[in-house]
Amino acid sequence: MQSLIRDISLASEGRKKIDWVANFMPTLNTLGDRFEKEQTFKGQTIVVSVHLEAKTAYLSTVLKRGGADVIVTGSNPLSTQDDVAAGLVDMGLTVYAWYNCTDEEYTMFLNKALDHKPHIIIDDGGDLVSLLHTTRTDAKERLLGGSEETTTGVHRLKALAEAEQLTFPMIAVNDSNCKYLFDNRYGTGQSVWDGIMRTTNLTVTGKNVVVAGYGWCGKGVALRAKGLGAHVYVTEVDPIKAIEAVFDGFKVLPMVEAAKIGDIFCTVTGCKDVITEEHYAVMKDRAVLCNAGHFDCEVNVKDLEAMAVSHERVRQNIEAYHMQDGRQLYVLAEGRLVNLAAGDGHPAEIMDLSFAMQALAAEYILHHGADMSDDVHVLPYEVDAEIAKLKLQSMGYDLDTLTQEQYDYLYTVN
Ligand code: NAI
Repeated sequence: MQSLIRDISLASEGRKKIDWVANFMPTLNTLGDRFEKEQTFKGQTIVVSVHLEAKTAYLSTVLKRGGADVIVTGSNPLSTQDDVAAGLVDMGLTVYAWYNCTDEEYTMFLNKALDHKPHIIIDDGGDLVSLLHTTRTDAKERLLGGSEETTTGVHRLKALAEAEQLTFPMIAVNDSNCKYLFDNRYGTGQSVWDGIMRTTNLTVTGKNVVVAGYGWCGKGVALRAKGLGAHVYVTEVDPIKAIEAVFDGFKVLPMVEAAKIGDIFCTVTGCKDVITEEHYAVMKDRAVLCNAGHFDCEVNVKDLEAMAVSHERVRQNIEAYHMQDGRQLYVLAEGRLVNLAAGDGHPAEIMDLSFAMQALAAEYILHHGADMSDDVHVLPYEVDAEIAKLKLQSMGYDLDTLTQEQYDYLYTVN
């Protein structure tokens, strides 16, 4: 079936982006070498529905080296990079995605991907899994299972599993140590600020930054804001996370209070309606709002549209909302993930860990999927540890090893 992308003439730029990140993804390179030698995925069709930028593209090529027929689509209308999509097609992969697609086109792309009747899926946010449980149950006929990349997708999977409606095994890659400890914290921490700074060309130092949600992503976003010289405020609904934020040196307060003082707002909760009408009403003139949570429902842009007298695109990825009283509020990337819709996503070295976990999750599903229960699974600790060891080796670090005496002292009755 023929790919659907924006412009194949962008392929050489896309290939350069993919080659660049490959230089910094040694763990995935090691796995790619093994997969190629063993032809691990020969005869398997794998659908990858993850933010389509260079690192995802590289993961897809690694699976193809292992013999898989790889079908690639995006996981968000604004995060697909057209040159990268073209690069992949040029390398012989099938791609259905383009930047700034409509919601209808987005669903059409996922459906096209599912038409290939995958053996394995790699999902990001749960849209593919949702289709496989509703309008595309026909596409499950060869499906062994799959894996999920992000927190929000894992929440959706667990809700399905708890309702006893999940019909194939899924691995929550997000819940592996080598994913959330690094990708969610340090990846989001860096790439969110990259996205905000390159989009606005404004300072962070000296500003009041409000981070909504102090989970793994929020910790990273707050930490890096502090490093950039901002005064950081955190909003939370979980008392334990809130106290963690306080002991990490941040002020915790409700959003309705934070709304009055913030210069830059970043939501990373995975929840909806975190910033709404009551907050817009009290915000300072020229406040900047963005979201790094999976869906574009955290900053309620519809509320803002209804309140504003007009709005206009003032710079790429910045929409200015003009309020009745003369204030302007700026929304970045339409309230979609700012680091991906207005940036290149996480650094390559971080995605090396996440996507090595994804590659091993695909291999795990291939070998064990048929025997696994229709539930949400986490890869065994040994897989996590193996990835961490490979990564440390590639970075030139070494570990100590427990002596037998030390092992016995720690783990046996004495
Ligand atoms: P998490 O579960 O570790 O943290 C979320 C935090 O938000 C929790 O502490 C929760 O108590 C808090 N929260 C929930 N509702 C809230 C509300 N209304 N107001 C204030 N706080 C609230 O989740 P994690 O891993 O930090 O992920 C957060 C979101 O970011 C998810 O949607 C996830 O899919 C997405 N994500 C985005 C990435 C990116 O590249 N932008 C990368 C990884 C995850």
